[in-house]
Amino acid sequence: MIKLFKNLLLVGLVCFTVIACAQKKSAITEFDNENPVFYDTDSVHINAHGAGMLYVDDTYYWVGEHKVAGGRGNKSWVGVRMYSSKDLYNWKNEGVALKVVKDTTSKLQEGSVIERPKVIYNDKTGKYVMWFHHELKGQGYDAALTGVAVSDSVTGPYEYLDSFRMHPGVWPVNFNEEQQAWAKELLNQDIGRKEALEAGVYLARDFEVGQMSRDMTLFKDDDGTAYHITASEENGTLIISKLAPDYLSLSDEYVRVFPGGNNEAPAIFKKDGKYYMFTSGLTGWDPNPARSAVAENMMGPWTALGNPVRGTEEERKTTFRTQSTHVIPVEGKKDAFIFVADRWTPQDAIKGEYIFLPVEFEDGKPVLRWYPQWDLSFFDNK
Ligand code: GAL
Repeated sequence: MIKLFKNLLLVGLVCFTVIACAQKKSAITEFDNENPVFYDTDSVHINAHGAGMLYVDDTYYWVGEHKVAGGRGNKSWVGVRMYSSKDLYNWKNEGVALKVVKDTTSKLQEGSVIERPKVIYNDKTGKYVMWFHHELKGQGYDAALTGVAVSDSVTGPYEYLDSFRMHPGVWPVNFNEEQQAWAKELLNQDIGRKEALEAGVYLARDFEVGQMSRDMTLFKDDDGTAYHITASEENGTLIISKLAPDYLSLSDEYVRVFPGGNNEAPAIFKKDGKYYMFTSGLTGWDPNPARSAVAENMMGPWTALGNPVRGTEEERKTTFRTQSTHVIPVEGKKDAFIFVADRWTPQDAIKGEYIFLPVEFEDGKPVLRWYPQWDLSFFDNK
């Protein structure tokens, strides 16, 4: 009898613990930037670095780089992973949306580098289109390609189409004949990086083979026009390109933005008809001061707005030890935008963390402050 009682007690205790844990798991109700690990609903560390987000049928989808442990984790051994969430706090693992392959003749082979994947939906074709920064296996960061994949379903599987340099044989619309001639003339002259970037020398160098594309993002406008924004010209100049109407390729229309500005990690959002951009500087995995910019038109001109971080000197110098990756427009809330950033751990890539901060506005400028814990009610009564 006593034994039975003991057993019942034990079962009761186990049940209580399981229920308590389950409740705890489903009860995430805030962003916790002091414990920025972000577990999925199976209690596994979310593995979707360099995130992009999109909203489909009342659900947010988070797409990102699946990393593995150690330094080799900075290369792609699995592919692009997806998660879904109804509330932006609790994320369900939706599996691998784009898989790297064993076939060593494919550009998408294991050990290539896939970074910063982003997905947008094409209303006309009914397809989900993924773009990502792609480096070929064994070539470091030299290839500087942009890759594209497509799916009928948001969570995939995505069919890989190709990876390529941008705009071979096409000049940007904001680079006139005089500038083209001057850039070509400087091509074989011994000038410094800054001068070369300002004059478009790398642009001229890569004119035939196509322009480089590294840190990138996508932006889909209200009218369905979509843009590819990327660090080009040895990461010295941003290039913004209009996508073709089916989003599967780039159109010929593109502009250079901030030549010689050394911007990486672009993230774009739109508020009151204006376009805003966060970027980082150029220090690899190490954090640096963020930048911000505004434009009336995606194709420019863009105006720099300076470092958006408000806080201590250390916070301003390192952007809270993060690098931008995306801005989420919060559905159903006015002027509610979330800055999403990576805190990289390149020596053990899988351990990278995610920081979510509300975007505030001061004198028409987007600004970022550190909030250790916060929730979406932050945006109410704004
Ligand atoms: C960062 C970039 C990352 C990754 C890294 C490699 O600047 O934002 O996405 O490319 O460099 O060193």
